[in-house]
Amino acid sequence: MGFIDEIKAKAKADKKTIVLPESMDKRTYDAAEKILKEEIANIVIIGTPEEIKEYGEGYDISGATIVDPFNDPNKQKYIDKFVELRAKKGVTPEQAQEQMEKDYMYYACLMCKCGDADGVVSGACHSTGNTIRPALQLLKTKPGISSVSGFFLMEVPNCEFGENGLFVFADCAVMPEVNAEQMAEVAALSAESFSSFVGAEPKVALLSFSTMGSAKHDNVTKVQEAVKIAKEKYPEIALDGELQLDAALVPSVAELKAPGSKVAGHANTLVFPSLEAGNIGYKLVQRLAKANAYGPVLQGLSMPVNDLSRGCFADDIVGVVAMTAVQAQK
Ligand code: ACO
Repeated sequence: MGFIDEIKAKAKADKKTIVLPESMDKRTYDAAEKILKEEIANIVIIGTPEEIKEYGEGYDISGATIVDPFNDPNKQKYIDKFVELRAKKGVTPEQAQEQMEKDYMYYACLMCKCGDADGVVSGACHSTGNTIRPALQLLKTKPGISSVSGFFLMEVPNCEFGENGLFVFADCAVMPEVNAEQMAEVAALSAESFSSFVGAEPKVALLSFSTMGSAKHDNVTKVQEAVKIAKEKYPEIALDGELQLDAALVPSVAELKAPGSKVAGHANTLVFPSLEAGNIGYKLVQRLAKANAYGPVLQGLSMPVNDLSRGCFADDIVGVVAMTAVQAQK
């Protein structure tokens, strides 16, 4: 069984309710039909009757719950919750209503916050920033977590590295600037994501262009500090750094550059030192090694919300919905 089939099986074992707010995109309906047919999750689509008719025609979504954001008996409850959550920002009921009607992502997050859904998948026709921002504002981080980050579960074909070609790469999606504390937290969240999705022990490498002090630069110092913080804060996690990518993955290089490290040469969870490196890195592996890249999956949020690539296919949405449902089971 491939990675995503295992995730679908896990999702089916304890079905969750996932909201798809992009009723203005045909791929939403294509994916919903497949999800309902395979019984991966219960589906809520947010849209007006006109949107559902225009974009959903021809797809069997009879098993989905349709929520019309202009005529929903629960709407006042969501407006009240929005105002309560954003009280410090001075959001009025009128502003809350306008925002929810203009941007269904807000509506979807409020459904989760009020216990009417377990997670959200969006981003087929919205940018990552616009997909993530409502979740950051309304759902916030898990207790004890300071920053949300985004990982890709990479499935690399014919690969002797990682866990039979499976890796977590992070942060590839969220934080344009990451400091040492945040990088240490990304390492811990990524380790948890790896063990929950892959079911094996995470071995976390904090990456740099330097291995164990081979280069001197502020960017290297940042990663060294992150390693120190992470080792102190999360002694139970197998992690090491700073490591270059080859030292992290290849045992013979690790022996030369990082002798004695338990992670070097065996890493399966790669923490990048910047969003540029992470985002470019996952796309390189996806395109050149023809890897499946599942994500970006957000980690650290109080409830699961996940983004899609705007170039995604309906099957990608199905996969991300299954991953979101599995996150909601935790
Ligand atoms: N973790 C937790 N909370 C956060 C984070 C974070 N990483 N970032 C921002 N926030 C909070 C802020 O504290 C703020 O809270 P408040 O409104 O209660 O005060 C709220 O989120 C909004 O923050 P802003 O800084 O006003 O929002 P911003 O416009 O900067 O949006 C965002 C944040 C969307 C994450 C931004 O940093 C961003 O655009 N990141 C890059 C996304 C991207 O383009 N990724 C690459 C493409 S993904 C791909 O290729 C698949």
